[in-house]
Amino acid sequence: MSREKVYITRPIQNEAISLLKEHFDVTVSPEDRVVDRDVLMDAVEDVDALLCLINDTVDREVIGRAKRARIIANYGVGYNNIDVPAATERGIVVTNTPGVLTDATADLAWGLLLATARRIVESDKYTRAGRYESWSPNLLLGRSVAGKTLGIIGAGRIGRAVARRGLGFDMKLLYHNRRRDEGLEKELNARWVDRETLLKESDFVSLHVPLTDETWHMIGRREFETMKDTAVLINTSRGPVVDEKAMVDALREGLIWAAGLDVYEREPAVEEGLKALDNVVLASHIGSATIEARTRMAMMAAENIVSVLKGGKPLTPVNEVPVKE
Ligand code: DGY
Repeated sequence: MSREKVYITRPIQNEAISLLKEHFDVTVSPEDRVVDRDVLMDAVEDVDALLCLINDTVDREVIGRAKRARIIANYGVGYNNIDVPAATERGIVVTNTPGVLTDATADLAWGLLLATARRIVESDKYTRAGRYESWSPNLLLGRSVAGKTLGIIGAGRIGRAVARRGLGFDMKLLYHNRRRDEGLEKELNARWVDRETLLKESDFVSLHVPLTDETWHMIGRREFETMKDTAVLINTSRGPVVDEKAMVDALREGLIWAAGLDVYEREPAVEEGLKALDNVVLASHIGSATIEARTRMAMMAAENIVSVLKGGKPLTPVNEVPVKE
């Protein structure tokens, strides 16, 4: 009997490729770049499983070509790159990689928070440029973090982990979710507030919502006007949650003090206006980029494929479909 076929859209960690090769015929797109759409369209035609990345657009058209596919395993926790309803209609399981990248992403959010508050990147550039001549009472003054108010929008796994780290800095914690979470309030002494209050009262606002129709441009001009002019915005979720043009204006006009960004509205493009500003730290979507987290993400995606193609249940499904034999 011929073995089932798996297509991987980009080279990923070897452990995961080896696991898949034990069971299936595996093809890996050889180049370390986003696979071309026409290549992806051809590749999915006769595969039983697709392992894709968060920057692969797996829309209705691609899914329509995947006649035999039983699972689409996303290498990432966010899955806005996949048309999940289209996959569900065709009986294809979609999985993601929750949990394994929580700490890595929360650490990066904190890295950005500290880097912006304390102007670390600016100071690095200043020193490298040979401009550091003497210690001075007014040189590169930032903002204190300890004891301030941290507002988390979207207190799921990652938002919670960011909040938990705030306790180590004696921060007052606010959060906004659609629903209150009493467990979180007890564990972290966090207070649920509406979004407006969170924006008004927080010194640091960190975004942790998925990208949906509801969260698109959730932070725009009005929200920047609501925030303190001393506030810092951190975004490690998805770029389009923030109106990037409005953010450039807000940073230029001093509506907020600084921003730390790992994600962009038209990624990998970065709004020109942003690059010219000193009060923004720009990372390159590296939230989950640790050896440990990426290995576990790759393994989780591979294990989902093994389980489904062997007739078992997906380990981390994001949709509900009957398992095909
Ligand atoms: C995800 O997993 O959704 C992150 O954005 C990439 O690590």
